[in-house]
Amino acid sequence: MRKKIVAGNWKMNKTFQEAENLIIEIADELEEIELAAGNRAVILCPPFVYLELATDMAPDSFFSVGAQNMSDSDSGAFTGEISGPMLKSMEVEYCIIGHSERRKYFGENNELLARKVDASLSHDICPIFCCGELLPDREAGKHFDVVKQQLEESLFHLKKEDFEKLIIAYEPVWAIGTGVNATPEQAQEMHAFIRKLIAEKYGEDTASQTSILYGGSCNAKNAQSLFAQPDVDGGLIGGASLNSADFIKIINSF
Ligand code: PGA
Repeated sequence: MRKKIVAGNWKMNKTFQEAENLIIEIADELEEIELAAGNRAVILCPPFVYLELATDMAPDSFFSVGAQNMSDSDSGAFTGEISGPMLKSMEVEYCIIGHSERRKYFGENNELLARKVDASLSHDICPIFCCGELLPDREAGKHFDVVKQQLEESLFHLKKEDFEKLIIAYEPVWAIGTGVNATPEQAQEMHAFIRKLIAEKYGEDTASQTSILYGGSCNAKNAQSLFAQPDVDGGLIGGASLNSADFIKIINSF
């Protein structure tokens, strides 16, 4: 079912005490918000080491918990990696896969990301699959081609029933952490394009039920105009998810 979703990607930020405080602040505020009535969901994606803090509080709160990455393998000699079965055993329900920082700094390509998506789904963890073009791609008018290729190579091998379990986040790389967000029109144009690709591959019913989030300098000031677009179903929020007041304002921007 197509939901309105705000997900906070904390990236590599916060000490243990800061993380605990932020989770408590957000949980307190969420008690006042009628999320279910608006078919809205909130997902917190803290660093791995704080997942248990979050999952411990999640059952009594109004948020779900996601990881920021996971291995494509289930177990074994992969020093420093975290697997799907580990996340599942900690009641983690979502996992960001293919964030542009993973692509850029850790060399993750479309083929590896396809395996990570498969691993995630095989453990009943919902992938939040990130796609998006670099600035030179957009300047060269290739942004639609780049996003299409990312979807085709990492997602379109999935069966319809598996594809229907995931969330997509369109995050133009030039907008991430730069303070320069895509305009609502640019976001809508790409989200509509992504939905059209899904419709062509899996049918209108699947396309209309897929949540497509926008990410990239989405904040308390611009969230409302972005979320007002018909094909923008919420946001994947980096910097502005690190402050509870800003994050709550974003949640209230629908
Ligand atoms: P930002 O990051 O909101 O800080 O631009 C978004 C993201 O990387 O998911």
